[in-house]
Amino acid sequence: SDSDTMDLKRVIRNIPDFPKPGILFYDISTLLADAPAWKETVRRLANRVRAYQPDLLVGIESRGFLSAAPLAVELGLGFAMIRKRGKLPGTTIGHDYALEYGEDRVEIQADAVKHGQRVVLLDDLLATGGTAAAGITLLRSVGAEVVSAAFIIELAFLRGRERLDVAVDSIITYDE
Ligand code: PRP
Ligand code: MG
Repeated sequence: SDSDTMDLKRVIRNIPDFPKPGILFYDISTLLADAPAWKETVRRLANRVRAYQPDLLVGIESRGFLSAAPLAVELGLGFAMIRKRGKLPGTTIGHDYALEYGEDRVEIQADAVKHGQRVVLLDDLLATGGTAAAGITLLRSVGAEVVSAAFIIELAFLRGRERLDVAVDSIITYDE
């Protein structure tokens, strides 16, 4: 069908030298703004994610929420948030992880996942894999069975999927 052959790369804007000189930034603003392309993105993600028969979806702040929320509606599932430090109320569980310079922390509410629930982790972009790896570790610490991680874009040349010990899906891949 037309939708199966839609070229989603065509609606991703490439911005050179952001956030730093030498980095080519793949900007999904133009994908989000294009109604048929965004609908097709969610459809393709839903088809991948459905196969793992998840009980719950989890998105990572902030751009992970963009795909997790519509996918939850599409698949008839609930959706939980992993957030950066200090944003979630009540009892939270955190995981500190190393960055290239310094460290960061992700948190989830202690009751967001039931023990043994099959969870798919969602984010917009797989680059080095550091963010997703931290999310997976955090989810396991609250008893989740992380069955896959799904991304809109994968920067395959950064080999992020090698850092993730779960099934990885992405619908748009860049090799350089
Ligand atoms: C970006 C992107 C992914 C992560 C990918 O998030 O949305 O979450 O980086 O990089 P990695 O695979 O090397 O970890 P960012 O931290 O810029 O924050 P945002 O989602 O709040 O914009
Ligand atoms: Mg992010």
